[in-house]
Amino acid sequence: MKILNYGSLNLDYVYQVPNFVRAGETVSALRRDVNIGGKGLNQSIALARAGAEVYHAGCVGKDGKMLTDFLQQNGVNTSLIACVEEPSGHAIIQVDPNGQNCILIHGGANRCITEAQIDAALEQFAIGDFLLLQNEINDIDLIIQKAHQKGLTVVLNPSPITAELLQADLQNVDWFLLNETEGAALADLPDCDADAVMQALRIKYPQSKFVLTLGSAGARYFDREKHVNVAARRVQAVDTTAAGDTFTGFFLGELLRGGTVENALELASCASALTVTKAGAAQSIAPLEQVLEFQKQ
Ligand code: RIB
Repeated sequence: MKILNYGSLNLDYVYQVPNFVRAGETVSALRRDVNIGGKGLNQSIALARAGAEVYHAGCVGKDGKMLTDFLQQNGVNTSLIACVEEPSGHAIIQVDPNGQNCILIHGGANRCITEAQIDAALEQFAIGDFLLLQNEINDIDLIIQKAHQKGLTVVLNPSPITAELLQADLQNVDWFLLNETEGAALADLPDCDADAVMQALRIKYPQSKFVLTLGSAGARYFDREKHVNVAARRVQAVDTTAAGDTFTGFFLGELLRGGTVENALELASCASALTVTKAGAAQSIAPLEQVLEFQKQ
């Protein structure tokens, strides 16, 4: 089984700040870095580091060579990434002294995907393969429907959640991997009570499986019949960027290897805990051996 990740590739402009900028305020950054990121790219790196055979599809601009190079260096197949006239997507990320972040994204090339490109990419995959999507590219709903028709297992990380995504037909999504905020929005609930979100999503998407990440409260898998919780690993946060992406990649990596949901949750929790101990996005994702070492502690 292989996995097609149709997703964003971003240049991340990361600013270490004493506090997040408020309306009307000017803040002087303590440091700036240009990193490799994008929820899609980060998840491909996490999948590859977890040992999966991963194909990344999407678009970059002429400024995107460092993004595709990084994927290739990490064993991700980049033959389905197109180079377009529009500049690559980018993110402006503020990181505060507690390692928390806030992120502004500009889609750029990530929003230039055509139907012809989608068809050509899906052509390479067959029944039983996985398709992974996040919400930083255009035409998510079209990709979901086409992949479902081909018999692919469709996995959606609905991040960032948008009004447009909430209008889309998501009934053909087999797996949702999402955080509490995204879960509440998808369930049309005002807040993030995990039990309430679970009840509502079971009714709204009875055929789907869910992994709900709950921050310091760990993570929960649920489907129509059962649910499983894992605790979070405690670490000192340096930068939480890409923690969710790491979780997604390692969870799916373990599933693709034939692992149980329980093992996949444990491994993904350990991998994402390690990610928050390092600065940056894609480069903060640890390889499988390090994650397994950490898991033994
Ligand atoms: O999930 C983290 C990612 O979100 C960053 O790398 C940034 O590019 C945004 O897409």
